[in-house]
Amino acid sequence: MLTVILMKISDIAPPINVSTTYRYDEHNLIPAAEVKDFLSSIEENPVYSRESHANSSRVQKVLSKVLNGHAVIYNSGCSAFHALMCHYNPKRIFFDESYFGIKAIANLITRNYGLKQYSLKDIDKFAQEGDIIHIETPLNPFGTAINIKEIAVKAHAKKALLSVDSTLAPPPLQNAFDFGADIVLHSATKYLGGHSDLLAGVLVVKTEKEARALIEDRIHLGTNIGNLESFLLLRSLRTYEMRLSTQSQNVVKIVNFLETNRCQYKNVIQHIYHSSLQKEVFVSEQLSKGHTAVFAVIFKSQEQCKNFVQYLKYFQHATSLGGVESLVEWRAMSDPDIDPCLIRFSIGCENAEDLIEDLKSALCRLEKENINM
Ligand SMILES: Cc1ncc(COP(=O)(O)O)c(C=O)c1O
Repeated sequence: MLTVILMKISDIAPPINVSTTYRYDEHNLIPAAEVKDFLSSIEENPVYSRESHANSSRVQKVLSKVLNGHAVIYNSGCSAFHALMCHYNPKRIFFDESYFGIKAIANLITRNYGLKQYSLKDIDKFAQEGDIIHIETPLNPFGTAINIKEIAVKAHAKKALLSVDSTLAPPPLQNAFDFGADIVLHSATKYLGGHSDLLAGVLVVKTEKEARALIEDRIHLGTNIGNLESFLLLRSLRTYEMRLSTQSQNVVKIVNFLETNRCQYKNVIQHIYHSSLQKEVFVSEQLSKGHTAVFAVIFKSQEQCKNFVQYLKYFQHATSLGGVESLVEWRAMSDPDIDPCLIRFSIGCENAEDLIEDLKSALCRLEKENINM
């Protein structure tokens, strides 16, 4: 009777299902060794949630549509990158600026297994078949873009694979596959999640075969997304495009305000970084549907950075990005290698005029304090 009731559920929102284990179908007892297609079988009839559960399968299907490929979901962006490195097992990785957590994983693999690390400028000289070329664009914390197509040509000339961390501009803002990416990574903790209340990551690949191989690895790595998190992510995806579009429109207004008025804050603002300020042609091609809602400002002193984050009313001072609420971060708080005068902005879905007023008032106060220095 209970089974019948469950099967008739017609919820619009997916149910929260926290079970880690599932009763075997007593009418269909097939030993694991005899199951022909194990992955399809556990998707249809979950056995244990490390392997699959209803909402992880559902979220993967939705993400495959949203991200234009075959999506494999993980319990964080970092574990998605670790899974990539485990699966493709390159002898060499080529990368420059990347999120520091990604670099730390490469360092662990170098420490344990001797992975060789090179800069992107060494691709022509040292890259070989099966190597990974990894780029992050737009780049955290600057929000600036690098040319995917240019790197893809170099990587493919050497039969290496190009992985693109597209966390800061997921589709529809940027579809990295259109420019030659072989694997696309997203920290779903950011724009896909969008509410600062879940950790998740995704690898998107071009073929079902690759996705299935990654899922097989994931079962053993134990890095499937959790039950509650996949429920939250499904909730988030229902407003995803609307949120991203508002955030992207807001950031352009805000960066434009700062850039056009920066002479009023000449004792405070040293430099503004954002893809909307880049003039290269590839930027508008790559980000044809809008800019990332992350940008950075270099202030004239660390003291100004400390005061600025306290003078703001609507922006919270916290790390992370991509949520509906606007954040600022004096980046030195979490990244030991960054310019100590850098403030990162993550623009949310609030009214852009309110945010501009807030920035104006904090910057005016700082400018007055610094005018005679
Ligand atoms: C660009 C980028 N990639 C990857 C990650 C790692 O994601 P997670 O924190 O979900 O592990 C982050 C986290 O901030 C990020 O900003």
